[in-house]
Amino acid sequence: MARIPFIAGNWKMYKTGPEAVETARKLVDLCADVGKVEVMIAPTFLSLALVSDCVRGSRIKTGAQNLYFEKEGAFTGEVSAAMIRATGSEYAIIGHSERRQYFGETDETACKKVRAAIQGGLKPILCIGETEAERDQEKTFLILDKQVSDGLKGLGPDELRDLVLAYEPVWAIGTGKTADTRQVDEVHQYLRSLLSRLFSADFSDRIRILYGGSVKPENAKELMNIKDVDGALVGGASLDPDKFIKIIKYYL
Ligand code: PGA
Repeated sequence: MARIPFIAGNWKMYKTGPEAVETARKLVDLCADVGKVEVMIAPTFLSLALVSDCVRGSRIKTGAQNLYFEKEGAFTGEVSAAMIRATGSEYAIIGHSERRQYFGETDETACKKVRAAIQGGLKPILCIGETEAERDQEKTFLILDKQVSDGLKGLGPDELRDLVLAYEPVWAIGTGKTADTRQVDEVHQYLRSLLSRLFSADFSDRIRILYGGSVKPENAKELMNIKDVDGALVGGASLDPDKFIKIIKYYL
């Protein structure tokens, strides 16, 4: 089955509201003709409504970089799935390695967030990936297995039909180091078979698996040509519309 290519931009903690709107406007123009590619940008919570308004009616979708798993309540500083959905956003990035590293996120909290996102009408993008030490100790597959199994625990294939997985080796994020095509190919094939084992071959065949970690125009082509890579989660290079569009256009 043909999976629709997906290129997502994670803007992290960059850009004020006006800056985010300016970038989004440029992207709307540049993405007027992106064929079948699905494009998503994830600005900060503060800019999400502004950017969602700005891209409405265009080819670009928006997503949040995180969410909290409770529906509402006295949770100072947190944002719910319903609040994100109400901005017109479709996606939520969950369990990004920076959330795991700096904000104490675990596979268990990621799982609660995946469930909350689905219940709130958002499509979850679950991020997984090994650290450099884990790769050196040959624990990559063990770690990925745990992150996927625990991150999706208790959820069925119907609930997960809009799931996107993002494989982002921690050692390749923001470092300029990219996994080589052999490493990416090996992991994406492994993830495809893991999804098949946990759910079904049909489910596995439908789920998009993105690669993330220092994706830029210079390396996008070889990464995007790998059979089981269905797109990219792009950090740094997504901040600049001229670079981001070059990555998107590899799929045209
Ligand atoms: P990077 O970030 O492209 O800047 O490495 C990727 C990510 O964190 O999603």
